Amino acid sequence: MKNIISANQFTKDEVEKILSRAEIMEQGVKSGKAEKLLKDKIVACIFFEPSTRTRLSFETAALKLGAQVISAENAMENSSAHKGETIEDTTKILCSYADIIVIRHPKAGTLDAAAKVATKPLINAGDGANQHPTQGFLDLYTIKKEQGRLTNLNIGFGGDLLNSRTLRSLLPFLRFYEGNKFYFISPKELELPREFIKGLKENGVNFEELRSLEEKLPELDVLYMTRVQKERFPDEVSYNKVKDLFIFKKEHLKTLKQSAIIMHPLPKINEIEVEVDADPRAAYFRQAENGLYVRMALLCYALGL
Ligand code: CP
Repeated sequence: MKNIISANQFTKDEVEKILSRAEIMEQGVKSGKAEKLLKDKIVACIFFEPSTRTRLSFETAALKLGAQVISAENAMENSSAHKGETIEDTTKILCSYADIIVIRHPKAGTLDAAAKVATKPLINAGDGANQHPTQGFLDLYTIKKEQGRLTNLNIGFGGDLLNSRTLRSLLPFLRFYEGNKFYFISPKELELPREFIKGLKENGVNFEELRSLEEKLPELDVLYMTRVQKERFPDEVSYNKVKDLFIFKKEHLKTLKQSAIIMHPLPKINEIEVEVDADPRAAYFRQAENGLYVRMALLCYALGL
């Protein structure tokens, strides 16, 4: 039994085993022969923040593996959290019903609190701007599948880096692989916290911070765009000030390498012009599909199967 709370908890060996397992899961799903490894298991998904991909891909993953699913969406309103129940009490109860618990919560650190009382494996499906480790895994899987390697890549992260839990979950994995250079592209208001940058410098990470989306575009192998996360802003005025500063436009495709890919954890709102979707380099819908295979592998990993 293993919790999945943060990308930082994994060794390179564990990451590679999970990626290999996800490939097997993909082959199983595509051939209609996915093994029912979770037969007789119950997977609980409790989401205190909205989700389309994470919740539904976890539920699909569980069903493909033969598990049954219990689910609470909009749990801030529709679970007893609305009446003031603590996450600790909710977690204890869910552990008495299900074999594994998937939780999304708006407050950073919630999964650490839940893990202190859990008697079943917990999976972090996103806790505030902190971590979204299963997204990190599916992003890594996507880069490997699309680019054929995880080394010697120029990777640009664009948009709301201040609030991006997906960046914080992918970067620890990419740092296992040599020769990668990272470009953090954002307006000043949405840049990575200085404490985070200090940590990267101390760990010898090769990176540059940029204010212009165009500047290094021709050099990128991966452009990872992120949504400006309205729900993390203190008010509408501060959100409106920055929401449209970084938009990947159809005209940008001309300067992007033919071998490059554009990623986005989704949902995308206004960060990528809709005309870009039809370009084969737009990998974000394939990326979301990969979430199914990766989450199948992660459910098995957490359950020790
Ligand atoms: N990428 C992601 O977490 O999407 P959802 O918010 O739809 O789950």
